[in-house]
Order: sequence, then structure tokens, then C-alpha cells
Amino acid sequence: MGRKEKIVTEIEVFESISGCSVSIQKLMKKAQEARAKAYAPYSNFYVGAAILLENGTIVTGSNQENASYPAGLCAERTALFYAGAKYPNQKIKSIALTAGPKGEENLKPVPPCGSCRQAIAEYEQKQKPPISIYFMGTSGEVKMVKSLLDLLPLAFNKDFLDGT
Ligand code: THU
Repeated sequence: MGRKEKIVTEIEVFESISGCSVSIQKLMKKAQEARAKAYAPYSNFYVGAAILLENGTIVTGSNQENASYPAGLCAERTALFYAGAKYPNQKIKSIALTAGPKGEENLKPVPPCGSCRQAIAEYEQKQKPPISIYFMGTSGEVKMVKSLLDLLPLAFNKDFLDGT
């Protein structure tokens, strides 16, 4: 039998948005506003993301779909790439996400998809300090991880390319 390695990740659960700090409540409100601007006529699944930078700027995004389905982009990466393009030297402190079918209540927190986790991993690895991620449905519980690595342990990053 091989040697076993165990990976433990930690998720903090808040009963509702009002259990979060004032700055995260504000961030999540921005994500909710961004969600209303989603362009998702094919899935009808509306996602909003808000990113808090170290200088206090908040960058938002929503999912943008396309008739050629794979050409669309998730809310997280829409916001993340804009933040990277406009504020290349600003570290990301937190990301807030809210998601659910348009016009319906969704009590189940929606975590970022695998591709978005990989995209967030790139920025976390680049900046060093971890990025906290808060995610919820449209109401109810908010889940939080202190680092992307809690959602994507053993993340692939540039160190593997360099062999460092
Ligand atoms: N979506 C996001 O915006 N973020 C995620 O993390 C999960 C999925 C979007 C993509 C697509 O427009 C719709 O939700 C349904 O998958």
C-alpha cells in the first residue's frame, strides 16, 4: 500500500449575508447588482461576481453567454480578467459570488466552476496573499474559503512549468 496523504480544507458557513462583515456585505451587494446584468438567455442561470482590490476598488462581472455556447464566459472570469487588465498591480483581497436561475430564489450556495477556480489560482499564485472567496445562492447561507486552495487543492500553477 502506498503512503497516504490527506488534504483538509476549511469552509466557513454564515447563516445569511448579515452574518458577514460590513465590507463583505457591501461586496456581495455589488455582486447582486452585477448579477442583474447577466446576459444568460440560453441557461437562464444568472451569476454575479464582485472583486475587492487592496486599494478598495470593487470590480464586478456577470456571466456573458453566446449562441456558440463555449464562447460565453462565467461571471468570475469576466470580473477577474477585467481587474487584471485594468489594475494589473492591485492585489485581490476577496471575491463574492451570487447565482441562481433568473427570477427564482436559490438557497444553495454556488461555488465557482473548475475553470474559474483555475483562473483564480493564477492570480492568487501571482500575488502571494490568499484570496478569500464568499459564495451564495440568491439568499440564505453564505459559504467562505480563506484561499482558492481550499476549493482547488493541488492546483496546477507556473511552478510546475518552471520545475521550481
Ligand atoms: N457560470 C458562471 O458564471 N460561473 C460559475 O462559476 C458557474 C457557471 C455561468 C456560465 C453559464 O453562463 C451559466 O452559469 C450556466 O452554466
